[in-house]
Amino acid sequence: MSRFAEPQAAAFQALNSSVAFDQRLWPQDLAGSRAHAGMLGLCGIISAQERDVLLGGLEIVEEELRDGSFAFLPDDEDIHMAVERRLTALVGPVGGKLHTARSRNDQVATDVALFCKETARALRAQVTSLMADLVALAETHLDAPLPGYTHLQRAQPVYLSHHLLAYVWMLDRDRQRLDFAGTQADRLPLGAGALAGVNFDTDRRMVAKELRFDGVMRNSVDAVSNRDFVLDLLHAAATCATHLSRLGSELVIWSSQEFGFVVLADGWTSGSSIMPQKKNPDAAELLRGKAPRVVAHGAALHGVLHALPLTYNKDMQEDKEHLFDAVDTLALCLAAARGMLDGATFNRERMAAAASDDLIAATDLADLLVRRGVPFRESHGIVAGLVRHAVASGRGLGELSDAELAAQSPYLDPSVRPVFERGSWLESKISEGGTALPRVREQLELARALLAK
Ligand code: ARG
Repeated sequence: MSRFAEPQAAAFQALNSSVAFDQRLWPQDLAGSRAHAGMLGLCGIISAQERDVLLGGLEIVEEELRDGSFAFLPDDEDIHMAVERRLTALVGPVGGKLHTARSRNDQVATDVALFCKETARALRAQVTSLMADLVALAETHLDAPLPGYTHLQRAQPVYLSHHLLAYVWMLDRDRQRLDFAGTQADRLPLGAGALAGVNFDTDRRMVAKELRFDGVMRNSVDAVSNRDFVLDLLHAAATCATHLSRLGSELVIWSSQEFGFVVLADGWTSGSSIMPQKKNPDAAELLRGKAPRVVAHGAALHGVLHALPLTYNKDMQEDKEHLFDAVDTLALCLAAARGMLDGATFNRERMAAAASDDLIAATDLADLLVRRGVPFRESHGIVAGLVRHAVASGRGLGELSDAELAAQSPYLDPSVRPVFERGSWLESKISEGGTALPRVREQLELARALLAK
């Protein structure tokens, strides 16, 4: 019997059905059902024999889902109903006992929580691998200078190692955010029933233990309303994707003919259909282009949950596509970032040439004057005047004569000349976290220790 006299409208079915995308939750759904059936048996809510029939049937369902022979039917609204429908077809009416003391509301929350926990862990592993690659690359290019930029204008030189290690720290923060998201998903919703708890004396802790949750959700209303852990994972994913977009952007810029700092491997670039000379950094561009999509999924789920009355509302079915696409996109971007860096060849000469433009010595010269007692603002003005003079005459600072130096300020006597020598601008950055080699070596040690943990 059904409460309804008429069948569902076709367009409603199409709107309402989630099986096309939530079928990937089958491993989580089956794990949850197994744990639930086991608990029902141990608590005497179903007989041990019934439990064994259910577990046997679930095993067949699992095989079918695994080998792709599981036949979804048009009426299977979601993965939960599909599994139960097939189970009942396989084992008979006792299949209907699986849904004792549970609802799809606590079931779906549990499936999604399990998925988030596993995914946070998998993404974390990918992030760690990328960090390790970056550390190795930093070791290789420990002492290769390139210009550091602000506003994409040459600012101060840094070692490539130092620049790459910046990403390692960014990614480590991503790992922390992923860990946090995993922790937020670590309480079992199952057992909350539709929203109020269930009319049976279940053992939720047993189920939690079986499914490796750290504990149970304390409040059944919260348990079925909560998708915070999805928001947390989407937030972690968004920030990580944003980090990768900055890396991608730098690879795009660095691989341009104008910069020529890096050559990307053929396997990570594409040609043009019309211009035979082109080698386009598409993968790097897509690291840039994909990030807003991941960010948008998080914003969209915030929209779904905004002002949503407790407890479960069908709106919440919309959590899944946002979640899946965001984590799939990030996984792809992480793999691409690794692949691109692995195949990238850095042109140390080009980088060094760009970093040896001695206008880059301006800050060092200003600091030298400060050390000689000139207030920084004043020295900034003196050096700015000198730079203007040099640029106007198309020369570097080091090419100006003693007389030209002295004409700008009496402080600019010939004893300042060593500051125009290239390496000095890097090795002078001795403050903790700076680019001087001893400091970069320190940083490498810390990064290695982080990865060894
Ligand atoms: N497919 C649903 C979802 O993903 C499962 C929960 C349905 N619950 C309900 N009361 N209709 O959210």
